[in-house]
Amino acid sequence: MKIIHVADPHLTPPGERLFGLDPNARLSAAIADINAFHRDAALVFIAGDLVNDGKPASYAALAHALGTLKPPCRLLMGNHDERSAFRAAFPDHPVDAAGFVQSVCETPEGAFVLLDTLDPGHDSGRLCQARLDWLKGALRALAGRSVFLAMHHPPAPIGVPVLDRIALVDEEAFAEVIAHSGVNIRHIFCGHVHCLTHGAWRGIPFSAQRSLIHQFEAPLAPLDERIVGSYEHPAYSIAVIEPRSIAIHVREFLDKSPRFSLANPVARRARSPSEVPKLASRSGGLSGWPTPNA
Ligand SMILES: [Fe+2]
Repeated sequence: MKIIHVADPHLTPPGERLFGLDPNARLSAAIADINAFHRDAALVFIAGDLVNDGKPASYAALAHALGTLKPPCRLLMGNHDERSAFRAAFPDHPVDAAGFVQSVCETPEGAFVLLDTLDPGHDSGRLCQARLDWLKGALRALAGRSVFLAMHHPPAPIGVPVLDRIALVDEEAFAEVIAHSGVNIRHIFCGHVHCLTHGAWRGIPFSAQRSLIHQFEAPLAPLDERIVGSYEHPAYSIAVIEPRSIAIHVREFLDKSPRFSLANPVARRARSPSEVPKLASRSGGLSGWPTPNA
């Protein structure tokens, strides 16, 4: 089973830029790439910070763009989101009984439980008692099953103080619910940190994803106090989930560098990349690559 993990598109009203970049163009490029290569994904989820400013016009742009996405899609709230504006633009998106953007999505390899960690007015994340109670009930109904969690804020500190200060504030209460859930939580997918971060929290593997727009440079030294924006390539992840394994591949969908055949002896002996025979563009139907989905 294939799952596509997208994070932090930070959409703006069409025409508005962010750090000199066009978030709407980035999202369209990501959707085109997913449609070309991963139309067979069981689920695409966008792990929060759907928009940069909470504006209705940004959510309208998001709804318009997602209208072209082929696989099924679920959306999460991040600290840049505005829940009521989101719900107005996506009236059919599942929410819990209290109106939080939380839901369970069944997939062939287990249930995805999507959590809402938005705490209005704060960049940190919160799972208040109402949300934790919902989670407790959702996990109780899934007892004995394999479960995946998706949430904007990572559940654990990641060693970057400026980000850890805006982490999930009720980690202990969340951990308590997880510990007594009776489900097998196989992985937690996150956003928020705008860089490729993999780790484990209380024995559960988690991964966070690059943004579709600006990135945060990974710390250059342990406990680096700065946070530095960068123009590293945007990416989404492809999680290949099987009964006994999970593999996560990063797709830098704007990378247009030439492709070449590893089996070509001329390529192997080349003294510089310019001497290497190039293959046709991957999206153009490359011999030896998986054929893009029609
Ligand atoms: Fe973000």
